[in-house]
Amino acid sequence: MKHLLSCADLSREEAVALLDTAARMAETGDRTIRKLPVLNGRQVAIMFFEDSTRTRLSFDAAAKRLSADVLNFVGKGSSLSKGESLKDTAQTLEAMGADAFIIRHSASGAPLRLATSGWTDAPIINAGDGTHQHPTQALLDAYTLRDRLAGGTGALDGLNVVIVGDILHSRVARSNVDLLTLLGADVTLVAPPTLIPIGAKSWPVRWTSEFDDAIAGRPDAVMMLRVQRERMSGGGGFFPSAEEYHRRYGLHAERFAALGPDTIILHPGPMNRGLEITAEVADHDRSVVVDQVHNGVHVRMAVLYQLLGGAQ
Ligand code: NCD
Repeated sequence: MKHLLSCADLSREEAVALLDTAARMAETGDRTIRKLPVLNGRQVAIMFFEDSTRTRLSFDAAAKRLSADVLNFVGKGSSLSKGESLKDTAQTLEAMGADAFIIRHSASGAPLRLATSGWTDAPIINAGDGTHQHPTQALLDAYTLRDRLAGGTGALDGLNVVIVGDILHSRVARSNVDLLTLLGADVTLVAPPTLIPIGAKSWPVRWTSEFDDAIAGRPDAVMMLRVQRERMSGGGGFFPSAEEYHRRYGLHAERFAALGPDTIILHPGPMNRGLEITAEVADHDRSVVVDQVHNGVHVRMAVLYQLLGGAQ
C-alpha cells in the first residue's frame, strides 16, 4: 500500500490489518508517555483546502503521537487566494521536506491527481475529496463498530448497518459502503429519492426511502449523515422543509425508541442537532459519536505508520 486514496483500493486483509494496528496504537493511549518514536525525523504535510475541525486535528494529533513533525497548510489565509495551484502548493511543501501528504480538497479526485501527477513521490492520504471518498473516516467507523459490536477483532461479518441521510453529497457514505461491505456487513441506505446518487442503485447495499422500514429489522448500528447544505447549490429543492426532513429522515426520540435496546448510533460530525439527529439522541449512552473521534486518532496513527513507518 503506497497511498490511501479510496476504500475501494483496500483488500479485506489490508483493512483488517489496519484496524489491528489501530488497536495496538490504542493501547499506547493508556501510557503516561503516549508518544511513540516511530516517525521521529519524518515530516508530514497536512494540506486542507476545505474546512474541517475533527479530521485535521485528528491527523495532526496522530502524526505528533508518532513523533513526526507536522507542516500544516490551511487553504484560507494562504496563497490559494492569490491563485496558487495544488501543484505549486504541494511542490512548496515538498521543498520544505514533506515525506507524506494528507489532503482534503473540494474537488473529487484531487488526491489521485497528486498521487499520479509526478509532482511528488511521497505517499498521499485522502482526508476527504469532494463527494468521492473519505477513507480514514470509514476506517474509524469500522473500528468503532468492531470495537462495540464484534469483540474488537476480525471483520464485521453479518452486522446490520443502516446509513441515513444525504447520501448524494456524502463521501463518508461512499467510503463506508466500500469498506463495511468488504468487511462483510449488510448495509442498508436510507435517503429521500432526491438525495440518492445516479448509479447508486447498483451498489452492493439495500436501498429504501422509508427510515421506519429500514429499522424494523432492528439493526446493530444506525449511522446518521449530515445534511450538507453547503453542497446544495441554490439551497433548496432537495426536500420540502427542514421540519419535513426531520420528520421523515431524522433520528428523534420516537424513532430511537423503536430501535433495539443495543443498537448504537454513529455520526461523523459535525452534527446538525435538531435536523438529522436530536440532541437527546446525539448525547445518549448508545451514541458513539465521541468514541468515533477518539478512535480516529488511533486509526490515523495506523495509516501513517503503515505508509511511512517502513524501511526508509
Ligand atoms: C465529514 C466530511 O467532512 O466528509 N466530516 C468529517 O470528516 N468528520 C462529514 C461531513 O462533513 O458531514
